[in-house]
Amino acid sequence: MDKLLITGGTKLDGELRISGAKNSALIILTSSLLSNEPVTICNVPHLHDITTMIELLGCMGVEMVIDEKRNIEVHANTIKQFTAPYELVKTMRASFLVLGPMLAHYGQAEVSLPGGCAIGPRPVDQHLQGLTAMGADIYMEDGYVKASVKGRLKGAHILFDVKTVGGTEHIMMSATLAEGRTVMENCAREPEIVDLADCLISMGADIEGQGTDTIVVNGVEELKGCRHRVIPDRVETGTFLIAVAATGGHVKLKDAQPDHLEAVLLKLADAGAEISCGKDWIELDMKGRKPKAVSLVTSPYPAFPTDLQAQIMAMNCIAEGSATVTETVFENRFMHIHEMNRMGARIKLEANSTTAYVEGVELLKGAPVMANDLRASVSLVIAGLVAEGNTIVDRIYHIDRGYEQIEEKLQLLGANVKRIAA
Ligand code: UD1
Repeated sequence: MDKLLITGGTKLDGELRISGAKNSALIILTSSLLSNEPVTICNVPHLHDITTMIELLGCMGVEMVIDEKRNIEVHANTIKQFTAPYELVKTMRASFLVLGPMLAHYGQAEVSLPGGCAIGPRPVDQHLQGLTAMGADIYMEDGYVKASVKGRLKGAHILFDVKTVGGTEHIMMSATLAEGRTVMENCAREPEIVDLADCLISMGADIEGQGTDTIVVNGVEELKGCRHRVIPDRVETGTFLIAVAATGGHVKLKDAQPDHLEAVLLKLADAGAEISCGKDWIELDMKGRKPKAVSLVTSPYPAFPTDLQAQIMAMNCIAEGSATVTETVFENRFMHIHEMNRMGARIKLEANSTTAYVEGVELLKGAPVMANDLRASVSLVIAGLVAEGNTIVDRIYHIDRGYEQIEEKLQLLGANVKRIAA
């Protein structure tokens, strides 16, 4: 298993290009199952999770053509079987979302219950309740969700009990081919949902309200092909901004989308960063200063994202002052704390509490560390960048799931980071 060796102490400085959004590209790949014609998806990041999704579609018989720019042309009408096997769904939760599109288009689907990052129980009850309300017949057998519908799904009124990104995307996709109108309330509002809706609309879907908490979908009989470019990855953008702020450095990020990161940019400004933005770039300059600790609460978009909580915790570890970090989206998303404390951080977390108290220290100390979720792993890379000496981050296959060439991008900013092949 590959590891990253980081020698801390460099102020990061330079320019980077942000990749396409993993969470958009993954779901848009599943949405291609709704169409009879080829769907071409551009700006797809080169990541392990994307390879898993390509493998999953491939094992169902879907043919894909990938060009040298990693534009993926999906021919979903070549599908031969409607089963998504445990071996692929267990490694990545997003693969569960092939269920609704297959059901809506072909009237049947069998999909293993999902896996993914080890962050809390992460149920799919909202997905299944929504599909059932649309007339699907669903039961569980041998760890699989088996779903079928006679004729088309039916439009329904759906009120989500919790804000769920995947649930909102899943029902929105399924409703595009349903008979009649679906009204979805208490929807999540994340930019990836809007990106998916934009792609579905290019395929001929009739959707309104994406990006608000009520989405209305008028079902159509069929969807056609389209060409869609996925939005920039706001989590990758935020991760690099936080890493640079933690080291007191400077960066210009190109191909980014600043309006998707308002809550994050406000916190970084509170931390002392000078920030300027254009339509598709963000520049952050700490002028060599140490960051100030910033308190925050994670919540669904547009609030501070849970996917950047661990990274900002790493910054707070070496910041001036102290702060509280409250996680409200997922249970069990503080696995990085123990590892950061092993590096000399001062983070306190009461048993069963959702709030961590972080007291900034002068410097962290390099250590061998590991984490078992994607964002926690990358937060340990940030901790390594602001630590004295060497840090070895183990199990970086988690990082490879969600960050394109992380060590090369960090090297471009002057970081002393090397991949050590196992
Ligand atoms: C997506 C993102 C993930 C991000 C998360 C929250 C993708 C591929 N992944 O995950 O990176 O961290 O949004 O921004 O886009 N819940 C239920 N029942 C359900 C569904 C969800 O109770 O049926 C709960 C979850 O346990 C969690 C909360 O709702 O506590 C939010 O989860 P959700 O928004 O669904 O996350 P994902 O779509 O899995």
